[in-house]
Amino acid sequence: MTAIAIDGPAGAGKSTIARKAAQKLGFLYVDTGALYRAVGLFMLQQGVDPGDAHTVIPLLKSVSVSLEYREGEQRVILCGEDVSDKIRTDDVSLAASRVSPIPEVRSFLFSLQQDIAKANNVVMDGRDIGTVVLPDAQVKIFLTASAEERARRRYFQLIHSGVKANYGDVLQDLKQRDYNDTHRAVSPLKRADDAVLMDTTKDSLGQSVARLIRIVEQKTGGKIS
Ligand code: DC
Repeated sequence: MTAIAIDGPAGAGKSTIARKAAQKLGFLYVDTGALYRAVGLFMLQQGVDPGDAHTVIPLLKSVSVSLEYREGEQRVILCGEDVSDKIRTDDVSLAASRVSPIPEVRSFLFSLQQDIAKANNVVMDGRDIGTVVLPDAQVKIFLTASAEERARRRYFQLIHSGVKANYGDVLQDLKQRDYNDTHRAVSPLKRADDAVLMDTTKDSLGQSVARLIRIVEQKTGGKIS
């Protein structure tokens, strides 16, 4: 099996680029952030503080989370319910960012991610895929862009979806998230030594996807199994 690990900060375009690249390669796209979001949603549904490790840890034994694929699209199943849409709210984003530093939450989701990569050719994105989850991935990419460009993209995304936004606030939030992601004790966001750095600040989506595919071809010598 071939695994392509894509890590990087929030707003670098990881999921969009990874999804398109997976389509082109005929690989399964695995968005691991969705798993943290599902755990975050579960804690909100239980009415507990997602950042309170003492309450969250014992509840993990009641969480059943899995990924299914319908027409190539990843669906997240939480305790039998498809929560793929519910996990995209701001509340759940926040809950995911609060549960994700808890080591027991990370180890709870660890084997699920590894098992998917054992059974499929994957493009997997997250924060610790190349460093922790799939350290032997054939291709590792650290995808980034300047904070200003990432904030600009997020700002226009919000405006286009009819949400009022202020560029300065978006930039400030993003910098805070970068700080949290890179400074947490367990599995902090960092570039794996053998990851290719891909800065998409000046690239369009199409250019980024093409660059990624070229890196994959170079690294695998065009041989994908
Ligand atoms: O990529 P995302 O915004 O959907 O991720 C949701 C949260 O989960 C975010 O706070 C980072 C965290 N996360 C993580 O800690 N490790 C991963 N492999 C993926 C996401």
